[in-house]
Amino acid sequence: MNTVLLLGPPGAGKGTVAEALVEKGYTHVSTGDLLREQIRLETPLGIEIKRLMDNGQFVPDDVVVGMIRGLLEAATDRQKFLFDGFPRTLAQAEKFDELLQSVAGVIEEVILLECPEAVIVERLSGRRTCGKCGTVYHVKYNPSSVTDVCDIEGCKLTQRPDDNAETIKNRIEVYKERTAPLIAFYQAKNLIHSIDATQSIDVVRSAALERLG
Ligand code: AP5
Repeated sequence: MNTVLLLGPPGAGKGTVAEALVEKGYTHVSTGDLLREQIRLETPLGIEIKRLMDNGQFVPDDVVVGMIRGLLEAATDRQKFLFDGFPRTLAQAEKFDELLQSVAGVIEEVILLECPEAVIVERLSGRRTCGKCGTVYHVKYNPSSVTDVCDIEGCKLTQRPDDNAETIKNRIEVYKERTAPLIAFYQAKNLIHSIDATQSIDVVRSAALERLG
């Protein structure tokens, strides 16, 4: 089982790049999306997850690792996964290594999307999402044909609750403190490939696609 990890700060474009890499036969796994699904289902866990996500805090490692364990154990040997937003802490990364060993999986590559803070804030503030099909737009860089209306579903686009100024600030701080150390962790394993994520969507997607052959 092969896996590719997409690493980078909030709003660097992990989801946007993932959409393109799916063409290469990878199953896209976004822990953010899995957690938002729990919120949508209004499970007791979902209620707690919402409180944390709305504040820009991480969901506990054991909850997220439990989701990934279930997914890997149900997968076939030949399946290829693209993880977007996982692992996000050193504890998750270490646990992920153990899980991969137990299913004879490997990390092919860690794609690091590098993006400065000012760009992140602009991207997250301008992001709009379709609640029906999940398509992600940006008011300036990837606008829908009609302002705030999904091109596919024709419904009104919304802003994610964690894309407000205060929560964006918290998310960036949490990234620096808890996720950025993963860069050195994977550099030591010689797995990191960096892409300048300030380039246009097409350029960043092509760079990632080229990387995966
Ligand atoms: P998650 O949903 O993963 O959010 P995130 O990591 O903060 O990343 P985003 O989805 O906000 O951004 P992205 O990098 O995917 O950017 P996108 O492509 O959308 O996680 C949310 C929360 O869930 C976390 O805060 C945490 O609470 C919890 N969580 C998730 N995983 C967890 C874990 N493993 N452990 C614990 N807690 C976890 O692009 C952003 C915008 O920019 C879009 O509008 C897009 O159109 C635009 N854009 C993208 N690329 C470009 C470009 N190159 N040029 C111009 N515009 C661009």
